[in-house]
Amino acid sequence: MIIAIDGPSGAGKSTLGKMLAKALDLLYLDTGAMYRAVAMAVIRKGVAFDEKQKVVEIAEKSKIELIGEPDSLKILLDGKDVTAEIRTLEVAQSASVVSTISEVRRIMVEHQRTLGRNAPKGCVLEGRDIGSVVFPHADLKFFLTAKPEARARRRFEEDKAKGRQSTYEQTLTEINERDERDVSRQDSPLTIAQDAVVIDTSELDLREVFEQMLGAVSKAKGETA
Ligand code: DC
Repeated sequence: MIIAIDGPSGAGKSTLGKMLAKALDLLYLDTGAMYRAVAMAVIRKGVAFDEKQKVVEIAEKSKIELIGEPDSLKILLDGKDVTAEIRTLEVAQSASVVSTISEVRRIMVEHQRTLGRNAPKGCVLEGRDIGSVVFPHADLKFFLTAKPEARARRRFEEDKAKGRQSTYEQTLTEINERDERDVSRQDSPLTIAQDAVVIDTSELDLREVFEQMLGAVSKAKGETA
């Protein structure tokens, strides 16, 4: 079973994707982490993001691995654990820039398809283009969204809990900038797949969203049985 979860940043994709993967015993793939790892590699090598050919070469040569259970997922870049490092604001913005390069996307999509297809019981993938490009024939597609203010509030609280220093206003600006780039890029922009189950999580708590998702899974299983 392939389950696609797309949506803008801060809509709850990671938390809910992990919950779903655990409940259904499926592999969990955080595809945003893969773009973040490429961005990290580019930063480390001191290459400018507008040197597209060099960025593509780095994407091609970098070994990106996602290891472990959903709750303790580790991201390895060329064998080194970068799980924490890729969560900075700088890497988030850089990943959004790197992800506008078509050739980088092609490499990532291929990698994601291979990982998804090889998962013995199936896979939950979360990102921006899973239902539209990576697995257009996924068994089930979700599009999770929420008002920018609600997403910024959640991100801000998460960051605060992790001891990061930023203000709510900075977080909101950052979310709006990233939304704009993710929605307006030429190649595979963030879109709602026609057959996606759309859930606005602005006014819902995790449990409520999760129950709606489980309901959709049961329905999809019933339809394919
Ligand atoms: O989900 P995230 O915040 O970790 O993603 C980081 C960036 O990567 C995001 O701004 C857009 C990009 N991305 C993408 O273009 N396609 C995906 N499938 C996942 C992420």
